[in-house]
Amino acid sequence: MFIVTRPPTGCKLGRFLDDEGYRHVPVLHDNRTTGTMKPNYGIDAPIVVRNMLLVGAVFLAMGFLVPAPDPFGICCIWVGGSFLVTAGLMVSGSKFFKVRLRDKLVGSLKLKGTERVLDMGCGRGLLLIGLAKRLPHGRAIGIDLWQKVDQSANDIEVTRTNARLAHVEDSTEVVTGDMRDMPFDSESFDVVVSSWAIHNIPDTAGRDQAIQEAVRVLKPGGKLVIVDIFASKEYARKLAELKMLNVILSGPNFLFVIPTRVVTAKKTG
Ligand SMILES: C[S@@+](CC[C@H](N)C(=O)[O-])C[C@H]1O[C@@H](n2cnc3c(N)ncnc32)[C@H](O)[C@@H]1O
Repeated sequence: MFIVTRPPTGCKLGRFLDDEGYRHVPVLHDNRTTGTMKPNYGIDAPIVVRNMLLVGAVFLAMGFLVPAPDPFGICCIWVGGSFLVTAGLMVSGSKFFKVRLRDKLVGSLKLKGTERVLDMGCGRGLLLIGLAKRLPHGRAIGIDLWQKVDQSANDIEVTRTNARLAHVEDSTEVVTGDMRDMPFDSESFDVVVSSWAIHNIPDTAGRDQAIQEAVRVLKPGGKLVIVDIFASKEYARKLAELKMLNVILSGPNFLFVIPTRVVTAKKTG
C-alpha cells in the first residue's frame, strides 16, 4: 500500500518518484509512514523531570497568589522558575544536546565499519543506533534492563523499532541483561561504550563490577568510552587499577545541568 504525495518544489527525491514526479511512500500497518518517522530516544529520568515541573508550578502559583511586593512571593516565583528552567534543560539535554555529543563521540572512534561494538545500558538506542550506522559490515549489540525510571517508555521493543526506523535493524541486536554480569564471551568486542547508564547502579561495588565486565569483554587493544554523570572519576580510578591504557577523563559538559564527563581508555594489546 502507498501514500501518494507531490514532493516540495526543488526537492531532490530519487527514491519512490514516479514518472509524473509524485512520491510513493510505503505505509506501515498502522498507517504511519516509514519516510517521515524517526527514532525517538525518550527522556532521561522522567520522574525527576515530572516532579520538577510539579514543584515549579506549585511554587509559581504560590508566588502569584501572595500580594506583591511580599518577599515571600518573590522568593516563591524565583524558586518555581528555577525548577521549571531546570526541567526544561533536562528535556532539551535528552532531546538535543545528548544527540550532539553522541555524534561527536561516534565520530571520534574512527570505526572501520567491521567492528563488533557493545553498548552497556543502551536504553532506547541513542548510542547503539549511532554506532550501527557506522558499521555496514559490523554489529552493534545493546544490553539493558529496560528500567522505565531511568528513561521514558524504556522497552526492548521500542529500541528495536528505533533501529528499524533508522534502517539499522540488520546490524543491531538487543539483549536483556545486567551489565554487572553480562552474557558475552571474554575479549569478544572491539569497542565498548556506555552513556548515562552506569551511575544508575546504586553502589560503588556494583559500578566497579560493571567496569570490570566492560574490560573483560573487550578484545586486547579495544577501546572503551563511558559518558556519565556523578561517578566518572570513580570509573577512571577503576580502569587505571585494571591496567587499562590511556585513561582520560574529560572536563565537564553541563548538558544535563549536572556535569557529564567522558572517560576513554584502551585495553592493553
Ligand atoms: C538514562 S538511561 C540511558 C540510556 C541510553 N544509554 C542513552 O544514553 O539514551 C540509563 C539506562 O541504563 C539502564 N540500566 C540501569 N542499570 C542497569 C544495569 N545494571 N544493567 C543494564 N542496564 C542498566 C536503564 O535501564 C536505562 O536504559
